[in-house]
Amino acid sequence: MRKNIVAGNWKMNNDLAQTEALLLGLKKHAIPENVSVMVAPAFTNLYQAFETVRETPIEVIAQNMHQAKNGAFTGEVSAPMLKSVGVNTVIIGHSERRAYFHETNALLAEKVTAAIENDMQVIFCFGEELSDRKQGEHFEVVKAQLQQGLFHIDENQFKNIVLAYEPVWAIGTGETASPEQAQEIHNYVRKLVATTYSDAVSENVSILYGGSVKPANAKEIFANADVDGGLIGGAALKAEDFMAIVNAF
Ligand code: 13P
Repeated sequence: MRKNIVAGNWKMNNDLAQTEALLLGLKKHAIPENVSVMVAPAFTNLYQAFETVRETPIEVIAQNMHQAKNGAFTGEVSAPMLKSVGVNTVIIGHSERRAYFHETNALLAEKVTAAIENDMQVIFCFGEELSDRKQGEHFEVVKAQLQQGLFHIDENQFKNIVLAYEPVWAIGTGETASPEQAQEIHNYVRKLVATTYSDAVSENVSILYGGSVKPANAKEIFANADVDGGLIGGAALKAEDFMAIVNAF
């Protein structure tokens, strides 16, 4: 059975003290048993975050990683380094990494392989830009991102994958995909996973929606059959808002 997941992607927000304060805010709330809750602070704060939520069901995850184990890659962080501070899940392929740091599908494929080789779970992000959708090419764009960045792994490895559909035009814009638009792509992706792998793999993979999810719209988005949770940006920075989204199932 696939899991419901709500993951907060904090992006480049919150220093150490702010990270601690937000986590203490989250810890005041009970976490419902039917949802896996994850938070992705900045690299510098991962270890402290892990210690702070150690006794809770909240999982601390990373926003990115390098594909090599170690070496002369100034400024980068590897999978073994993440694992050494208690991080077992990593977001790969976020549209901001693709757009601002020129991460290609080929590079993302390498990162996915590296994460899996290190026994990490991957939240693999994909999603079209506004121009793609206007031209009616959103299905093809999403398909290419998945085929080129993710579908090189084998069926057995897919249990380590969570998918996150994040239409670029809905990220940080206040504009959310309608529940119908989200369901349409999620259903398309689930079928694509079924034809590429198997029905069992597609039934078991969680597909999250990301892009301006707020307490006010989370319920109607999560109510869709193929939406298994959310990847939350702005609203994850306020404990009350994030927990309201966690409780929206
Ligand atoms: P917002 O929720 O701020 O639109 O960000 C979504 C996102 O990019 C999560 O990874």
